[in-house]
Amino acid sequence: MNQPRRVEHQQTDKGHVPVYTTAVVEQPWDQYRAEDHATWGTLYQRQRQLLLGRASDEFLKAQDEMGMTPDAIPRFAELNQVLEPATGWTLICVEGLLPELDFFDHLANRRFPVTWWIRRPDQIDYIAEPDLFHDLFGHVPLLMNPVFADYMEAYGKGGVKAHGIGPEALVNLSRLYWYTVEFGLINTPQGLRIYGSGIVSSKGESLYALESPAPNRIGFELERVMRTRYRIDTYQKTYFVIDSFEQLIQATYPDFTPIYQRLAQVEAHPAGRVLASDRVHTRGTGEGWATDADA
Ligand code: PHE
Ligand code: CO
Repeated sequence: MNQPRRVEHQQTDKGHVPVYTTAVVEQPWDQYRAEDHATWGTLYQRQRQLLLGRASDEFLKAQDEMGMTPDAIPRFAELNQVLEPATGWTLICVEGLLPELDFFDHLANRRFPVTWWIRRPDQIDYIAEPDLFHDLFGHVPLLMNPVFADYMEAYGKGGVKAHGIGPEALVNLSRLYWYTVEFGLINTPQGLRIYGSGIVSSKGESLYALESPAPNRIGFELERVMRTRYRIDTYQKTYFVIDSFEQLIQATYPDFTPIYQRLAQVEAHPAGRVLASDRVHTRGTGEGWATDADA
């Protein structure tokens, strides 16, 4: 098998340009350096500590069950020995961002692509694209949860379908992914908790998403979410709050085709807007929000 490459975005005069790769590779575990294992360990310990009382119990429990430790970068093959019997998901090793349809196809078949390489020490607090820490620490634990595992497969199938409908449908569906899988909050009797991977893998956003007065925190409503733009370069202006993973999967059972048709007739909402119909947990002060256009 060919040597896996480290495929990263390119910095051009037009900003970051994502570079896609479709290769599925063998995890080059022996090639990780001491520095790479140390980056994993530092981030793992820092986030675990921060997330106690902040991440959802389902996430923390699932992460414990998987047997990840801060001692070394996990071997995907070992994690698969736990994950596959639990929910039928397997981790596959990739070089970086995948083209949308390849990504959907993997999810639809319960394969979760994990980037093999980890950020450099100078990127410890922020990296503009998914690396091993984001993918493994952030996304993989909840694949142990049966309901969330089903949701991810359904999302993959929905992605293949939306891809066939057209680019606008894909934009609507991507917003759902963004505001749930990546940046979702969940309501519990103890208060709001984090489950989105983009938050759990970020120290700054773990604090901001729960404790800052700046962002809106609004009850999840499917069509509302699919109509809302988001930020890719700053913390979110709005987080959507589910009551349970059961609620999330139930909301996504219906055929989205009529929703895509409706949304094609109306304008998207800016990321920070609060609507009269919203179930507002907290209304953000908007402090520090970027004023340029949302994605
Ligand atoms: N029900 C959606 C459709 O018809 C598929 C889907 C399920 C999308 C779960 C996202 C999450 O397209
Ligand atoms: Co992600």
